[in-house]
Amino acid sequence: MDSSSSPLLRIRKLTKKYPIKKSFFKKEFFYAVSDVSFDIYRGEIVGLVGESGSGKSTIGRLILGLIKPDSGQIVFENQDISEKFPKNLRKEISIVFQDPRTSLNPRFKIFDILAEPLIVNGYSKDVIREKVLETLKLVELDESFIDRYPHELSGGQRQRVAIGRSIVLNPKLIIADEPTSALDVSIQLQIVNLIKNLNREKGVTFIFISHDINVVANLSNRIIVLYKGKVMEYGETDCVINNPQHPYTKILLDSLPPESPRHRKIFPDIPEEDFNNSNFEGCEFYFRCPVKTDVCKTKPQMKKTQSGEVYCHLV
Ligand SMILES: Nc1ncnc2c1ncn2[C@@H]1O[C@H](COP(=O)(O)OP(=O)(O)O)[C@@H](O)[C@H]1O
Ligand code: SF4
Ligand SMILES: [Mg+2]
Repeated sequence: MDSSSSPLLRIRKLTKKYPIKKSFFKKEFFYAVSDVSFDIYRGEIVGLVGESGSGKSTIGRLILGLIKPDSGQIVFENQDISEKFPKNLRKEISIVFQDPRTSLNPRFKIFDILAEPLIVNGYSKDVIREKVLETLKLVELDESFIDRYPHELSGGQRQRVAIGRSIVLNPKLIIADEPTSALDVSIQLQIVNLIKNLNREKGVTFIFISHDINVVANLSNRIIVLYKGKVMEYGETDCVINNPQHPYTKILLDSLPPESPRHRKIFPDIPEEDFNNSNFEGCEFYFRCPVKTDVCKTKPQMKKTQSGEVYCHLV
């Protein structure tokens, strides 16, 4: 990772909202992503963690240009891609989805699945074959897989093919959106190790999305913690894991299994959230925060931490 040069990807004040119909006259908005800023440097793996509905996939879709932001900036290699995703960047940023059963075309053999992006980009037949075989090797599948269909593969093998498809064009950035969540625990670790190897050996930069801070901590250089579409805390993995600053990060870490060496019991279980609070002007975490005070009825500001920032009045 090289944080001295300009970032590969720069996100500034990114916001995506969806209308909620209250009545015919009254329109309110739900903020799926709210004022999110972060940088991604070449060669790093950045973990984006938060529970279901915190806006992780929305951020991924915004970066890929699949949906448009309402405001904010997405800059890739100094080029502003917020308004229009340039066609020539299609091969520079790719995605791996959670469930390879649905992301891989069931009618295509593995060879065709891996060859398709190369055909679209005009590679010759010989080069395509060479690159497909090279890619299979990179994702640790042997040549015999080229003639198989996705349903003839295990979940872990299918995810290897999906990862292969995402790297076949040599992208600079891969967004891996919960790539291990549909897999058995034993297979999860293999996929995590594969991503680590691709990062180390090919220098591919990853945004690794997961609801599981344990998985994210295992492979990321830095961690960004999201809650309700907002960044609660970010920093280097060691700092965030060993010295979490935000109450939400502490709760996420506290929910690690008891046998984990990092287990700690600082906070009680997360109380049920009161969801009727879209007009609330204070901290987004207020209704679930075990240490809130009156000052939290106003919005906090981001504050510097040892290696990043935190969004909390009490830090
Ligand atoms: N097209 C949409 N219309 C309305 N709400 C949406 C849409 N897409 C996502 N959302 C909402 O935005 C929030 C964030 O979604 P998502 O980014 O998928 O979260 P995550 O990936 O962290 O689980 C969720 O509450 C989801 O219901
Ligand atoms: S600002 Fe207040 S409510 Fe929000 S996380 Fe910090 S202590 Fe909790
Ligand atoms: Mg998601």
